[in-house]
Formats: sequence, structure tokens, C-alpha cells
Amino acid sequence: MLGILILLFALSYVTALDTGPVQIIPSSHALGSDGPWQTVNVSLGDPPQSVQLFPGGIFESVILSNGICSNTSLPKPCGSGGLYDDSKSDTIDDTSIGFNSNNNVTSMDDGQTQTVGISMPIMDQLQIPRVGFSNWVVPNLSISLVNEIYTTLPDGTSYPVQVGNLALGSAINQSFTTDFGPSINASLIPGWFYEQGVTGNTYGLHIGSAAMGIPLSLWLGGYDRSRVLGPVSSQPCFQNRLRIDLLDVGIGVDNGASPFNFSSKRNILDQGNSSMGDSTSVIINSLSPYLHLPKSTCDAIASYLPVTYRPKFQLYVWDVNDAAYGPIITSPSFLSFTFRASNLQQSNLTIKVPFQLLNLTLEAPISSKPTQYFPCRPPLAGGGYTLGRAFLQAAFVGVDWNSDTGSWSLAQAPGPNTARTPQQEILTTTVSSSSNTWSDSWAGHWTPIEETSSTINSTNATASSGNTVSTESSAPKAGLTTGAKAGIGVGCGVVGALLIGIGLYLYRSHSHSRLASVSSSQQTASAMTSDDPSTIPLKGYYQPQAPQEQTIAEAPGSEPVELTGAEQVAIELGNGQVARQELGVNSR
Ligand SMILES: *[C@@H]1O[C@H](CO)[C@@H](O)[C@H](O)[C@H]1NC(C)=O
Ligand SMILES: *[C@@H]1O[C@H](CO)[C@@H](O)[C@H](O)[C@H]1NC(C)=O
Ligand SMILES: *[C@@H]1O[C@H](CO)[C@@H](O)[C@H](O)[C@H]1NC(C)=O
Ligand SMILES: *[C@@H]1O[C@H](CO)[C@@H](O)[C@H](O)[C@H]1NC(C)=O
Ligand SMILES: *[C@@H]1O[C@H](CO)[C@@H](O)[C@H](O)[C@H]1NC(C)=O
Ligand SMILES: *[C@@H]1O[C@H](CO)[C@@H](O)[C@H](O)[C@H]1NC(C)=O
Ligand SMILES: *[C@@H]1O[C@H](CO)[C@@H](O)[C@H](O)[C@H]1NC(C)=O
Ligand SMILES: *[C@@H]1O[C@H](CO)[C@@H](O)[C@H](O)[C@H]1NC(C)=O
Ligand SMILES: *[C@@H]1O[C@H](CO)[C@@H](O)[C@H](O)[C@H]1NC(C)=O
Ligand SMILES: *[C@@H]1O[C@H](CO)[C@@H](O)[C@H](O)[C@H]1NC(C)=O
Ligand SMILES: *[C@@H]1O[C@H](CO)[C@@H](O)[C@H](O)[C@H]1NC(C)=O
Ligand SMILES: *[C@@H]1O[C@H](CO)[C@@H](O)[C@H](O)[C@H]1NC(C)=O
Repeated sequence: MLGILILLFALSYVTALDTGPVQIIPSSHALGSDGPWQTVNVSLGDPPQSVQLFPGGIFESVILSNGICSNTSLPKPCGSGGLYDDSKSDTIDDTSIGFNSNNNVTSMDDGQTQTVGISMPIMDQLQIPRVGFSNWVVPNLSISLVNEIYTTLPDGTSYPVQVGNLALGSAINQSFTTDFGPSINASLIPGWFYEQGVTGNTYGLHIGSAAMGIPLSLWLGGYDRSRVLGPVSSQPCFQNRLRIDLLDVGIGVDNGASPFNFSSKRNILDQGNSSMGDSTSVIINSLSPYLHLPKSTCDAIASYLPVTYRPKFQLYVWDVNDAAYGPIITSPSFLSFTFRASNLQQSNLTIKVPFQLLNLTLEAPISSKPTQYFPCRPPLAGGGYTLGRAFLQAAFVGVDWNSDTGSWSLAQAPGPNTARTPQQEILTTTVSSSSNTWSDSWAGHWTPIEETSSTINSTNATASSGNTVSTESSAPKAGLTTGAKAGIGVGCGVVGALLIGIGLYLYRSHSHSRLASVSSSQQTASAMTSDDPSTIPLKGYYQPQAPQEQTIAEAPGSEPVELTGAEQVAIELGNGQVARQELGVNSR
């Protein structure tokens, strides 16, 4: 009965649908114990419960339940993005997929931070606010409801997770099958809008910056052209991942004198590491907060900055008392990332991330007092090189799941001086940039250093204590512009967040030894008609029988992962890694 009601409800909306790009409204609050990071505000279930989520992830959305804050040994705050009480939703379906049982997933490792949790697959409806209309209602969203989760720092301290994620994967009619009963279909959000004929199976994202007052921009089936500046690099997706070759990392200054004792620096990516090849594959992933680069690269960048490596966090903390800190953070200086453009050998694309965006804050529960940090972090064991939210503050990403393997676009995104009225475009395989310039988009929000004779330069520099700015007279004005301060006000009142990189997992009943397997239909037009299982992008098998090899062909970024034995599951990780994990389920 319930199912029929949902269906009718959904259909009544289908008839009323207008078509064209759908904007997902950003939340007015930024969150993050390592941010601040902007989120989207959606409602789950009926009656609706609003939760703030990080946009990103390619499999199910991860929602934190109110149970996660009951562990009293963990510091506060907890779940500051909002918690979902599954017992209060009339539209929840927690039996079709998960057999209404809890499943322990131990050592859920996003490859970068060790996250441990217990989760349960469910389906519920999602409501997306629509300006001037009633909400979009997405039925049967595939969700992992997490009942217990915490992240462990390298020093062994644990802290609670703050924010779940709204997955932007492509799957339509992801069929969950059991050995008993009919299969159950759930779709991911871009896939659902595509299925309804509202938009293409695409999205455009610029996460912006709360601290600098650059609003988050997330569109389904479209993008805001004013978020795309200069040349665009378009390349195929790699097993649903946004993978690209990183050619170099550099430091530069847009205008004015340099706060460094050089005007620009190149070849930082492989500095001090002779074993790095011509290029380094990185995954762009908005679920990861940091820049996960080789330790040698992080150390090389850090050698030019007034920062100190803190092993507790495996991050670099700004020395805010160093005279160079202010000038670096407020001047038009930037960290640049040069990528292979459009998969071409001879072409490259450089994305500039102003150091202003890399003055991020560790807060409770990660750090007891607010600490400014520089977000370079070496990958943990098993993790790959990933450019996360720190990078995506300054980059636009557009993803088109419709094309053969899926394709995606990367471009420079603007600074705070950006039109608040979006230049809405339909997103296809190609993305067009606006005629605005990056430099203008930051003008008034950074403070160029006057070029005076006393300004340090490469031919005459002090080498003392990293203090590269010479005299008071040439030091840039301290502080930020009014616009920047207003932006920071928005971001700082809120605390706490960490990514969750939970993904594909398999599960079994603890009350019955029933088996479940899950697969998703291919999102691409060609593959939708294909039965070749090797083209299915996301799937896993729970392998219940005694030792027998089972391969997951889609292990992203790696060779196929073999599952052997009865108690192993594959976990698709937020940063594009797949790990083998023990499933701590007692079959009773
Ligand atoms: C949602 O899933 C239920 C099964 O749990 C199914 O009966 C129903 O038709 C689905 N609704 C839609 C709109 O797909
Ligand atoms: C999220 O949306 C709900 C419902 O529209 C609203 O009540 C709430 O204030 C919003 N929260 C944030 C943080 O934007
Ligand atoms: C509470 O969190 C700690 C980590 O700080 C963990 O070791 C413990 O198992 C958790 N307890 C429960 C009941 O989940
Ligand atoms: C998804 O399933 C519905 C029936 O529930 C069907 O009408 C539709 O064609 C399917 N779409 C795809 C892309 O498989
Ligand atoms: C589930 O999706 C498959 C593949 O598109 C479709 O054939 C089937 O009819 C769907 N089942 C339901 C219950 O909607
Ligand atoms: C040097 O680069 C290689 C290849 O990327 C990497 O495996 C290694 O960890 C790097 N060394 C350091 C110290 O970061
Ligand atoms: C760095 O960020 C913190 C927190 O947002 C802010 O208070 C501080 O003013 C920033 N530093 C500079 C030099 O802009
Ligand atoms: C990028 O392209 C420019 C112009 O072709 C070239 O000068 C530069 O060396 C390239 N950079 C890298 C890191 O390949
Ligand atoms: C750099 O230093 C040299 C030597 O002191 C000086 O001649 C030159 O004018 C300086 N340049 C700038 C831009 O300050
Ligand atoms: C530039 O400054 C760094 C510290 O930031 C120092 O180690 C280096 O020796 C300086 N280089 C020159 C040429 O003065
Ligand atoms: C640069 O060198 C000149 C000449 O040696 C010296 O007078 C000046 O003070 C130096 N500037 C700085 C900032 O050290
Ligand atoms: C999950 O693990 C906890 C702690 O180890 C245990 O108490 C609980 O019974 C387990 N749940 C299931 C469904 O196995």
C-alpha cells in the first residue's frame, strides 16, 4: 500500500515537471571541523527532516542517523550537519535492501582517514527545494544510513563525523536483488532526473568558499557558466572517477610583488623525489577535504611556506605569527596545479588556488582550539593521490554520465567577485566558459604587495626564519576586505565536519542467512543496452560460500579486487579506492 502511494505521489509530480537544469540550493550554513565547507540542504523522508550534506560520491548517499552521537567517549560536536531519525519517516523502506538488519562494516577506510562505522542500506524519498514551486521529490533514493561512525586520526584519537553526502552518481534502476522476492530499484539523483526526462544525466559543481564568500553552485543537468573561466579540459571518466594527470605544482603571484623571495616557482610536484614519473594520476573528489599528494610534494610546497608539519593530523599548520603568513594569505599569491588537458600530450591546463583559500581551520572535534592549517596531506596506506575540497574551492567540475564512458570537464573557477545571478546552461559533453577573468574575480578581495625597492626579490633576500617580507613599509595591509570578512562571519559560527567516504558495500542479514547482491545499471546510453557485466560500473558481490574466488571488475584506480572467503566485502571508497574488508557480521 505504501509503495503504491509513493508511486502515485511521484507520478503526480512527473506530470507537473518542467524540464531544464535544476539548481540544488546551498545551505546557508557552512560546516566543517577542517573547513569551513559549504553544503547543500535537502530533506529526507516524510515528514521531511532537513540535513546538510556534502555534494559528491558516486554510489549511495550516506546519511548519519541520530544514533551516531550516543558514543559518549567521543568528543563533541557530533553530526553538526543534521541527523536523520529513521523511525520518524513514513516513507522509509529499510527492509527491501537491508533486510531490516544492522550490518557491521568495520574499518571503513576512505583511504585517507580511518573511519569505522555500522551502516544499514535503506531507501527513502528525498526532497529538493525548488524556488517558486513545490519540492522535487525523488523517491527510493539509495541511502546508506549510518548508525555508528567515527574517524581516527594518525595518533589514535577518534572523533565523530559531522556531515553525510549527497551522491551524484549516474545509476538508474540500480537493482538490488535477493535470492528471495523481486528485485528492488533505486536511482541516484542525476540518474533519477534523467529518467524523468527533466535533465540530462549530468551535473555541474563549484563548491566555492564559505570563508571568502563564494556561494556553492550545484546544478543537475546544467551548470552556471559564470563559474567557468578560461580553457576547459574535457576527458573521459575513469570507472566513474574524475581522474586526470597532474603534471606540475607551482607557486606564483598574479600581480604586485611576491611575498616570497622568488617571483614564481615550478617543478614542485617532483621536487625531492626522483622516482616520480612524467605525470601523476590524481582523482578529483569533493568528499575528500584535503590535497592528498606525495609526502615529498607536500614537504616541497611547505618548504616555501611558514608552516609546521603536525604528525598528529598529518597536516601542516600555519605559523600565524610568522611575518610572511599574512602577506602570503592576503596577497594575490597562489598555488597552481598544471594538468594534462583533454588527454592530449601537448596541452595543459593550469588551475590557480589562491593561498587565501588554503588558510583553512581545524576545529573541534579534530582540534580543541581553532588552528589554521595548510591542507596538504600524504595519502594513507592504500589511498591514492586526491584533490579534494581544498582544491575544488577554485575549480569547476562538470560531469556528463551520458557519454560512452562518462566524461567530465575541469576549469578554473572564479573568486568572490562573481555574479550572484547564475548564467544557466545545459551541461553536455562540452562546457563553455564565460568571458570573465580570474584576476578580476579576485580584485578587491586580495591585497597586492606594493613593488617597492625594499620589497624582497630573488636577487636580494633574507633567508632568515622564512620571513620573506622585508620592512613594515612594504608589508601589505593586514586583514581582509569587507567582503571577505562578511564571508568569514558566515563560515566561522559553525563547527565540525569530516568527509565520509563510504560507498559500495555488501551486507547480509543477521537474522537470516539470506544473501544479497547489488548491481547498478550502466548509466551510459550504449551500456544500457549492453548485458556485458564487465561494463557495469558499480557492483559488488557478497560472497557467502566457502573459499571461491569472486572478482569485482570495477575496482577503481586499481586492478580487479579479488574476494576470497566468506566474510569479505568490497568497499568502494570516497577517494576512488577499493579495499577489501572483513565484514564483522554474526550470522544468527
Ligand atoms: C519504490 O520502491 C518500492 C519498493 O520498495 C516500489 O514498490 C515502488 O514502486 C518504488 N517507487 C518508485 C516510484 O519507483
Ligand atoms: C534547510 O531547509 C529547511 C527547510 O527548507 C530550513 O528550515 C532550514 O532552515 C534550512 N537549513 C539551512 C542550514 O539552510
Ligand atoms: C566509541 O568510540 C570509540 C572510539 O573512540 C570506540 O573504540 C568504541 O568502540 C565506540 N563504542 C561504541 C559503543 O560504539
Ligand atoms: C527503470 O525502470 C522502469 C520501471 O520501473 C522502466 O520503465 C525504465 O525504462 C527503466 N529505466 C532504465 C534506464 O533502465
Ligand atoms: C528495475 O530496473 C530494471 C532495469 O531497468 C527494469 O527492467 C525493472 O522493470 C525494474 N523493476 C522495477 C520493480 O521497477
Ligand atoms: C615519491 O614518488 C613516488 C611515486 O609517486 C611515491 O610512491 C613516493 O611515496 C614519493 N616519495 C615521497 C617521500 O613522497
Ligand atoms: C585565516 O583564516 C582565519 C579563519 O577563517 C581568519 O580569522 C584569518 O583572518 C585568516 N587569516 C588571514 C591572514 O586572512
Ligand atoms: C604547459 O604548456 C605550456 C605552453 O605549451 C608550456 O610552456 C609549459 O611548459 C607546460 N607546462 C607543463 C608543466 O607541462
Ligand atoms: C630586486 O633587487 C635588486 C637588487 O637589490 C634591485 O636592483 C631590484 O630593483 C629589485 N627588484 C624589485 C622588483 O624589487
Ligand atoms: C628564500 O626563503 C627561504 C625560506 O622561506 C630560504 O630557505 C631560502 O634560503 C631563501 N632563498 C634565498 C635565495 O634567499
Ligand atoms: C637589498 O640589498 C640592498 C643592497 O645590498 C640593501 O641595501 C637592501 O637593504 C636589501 N634589501 C633587503 C630587503 O634586504
Ligand atoms: C556489530 O558490532 C557490535 C560491536 O562489535 C556488536 O555488538 C553487534 O552485535 C554487531 N552487530 C551485528 C549485526 O553483527
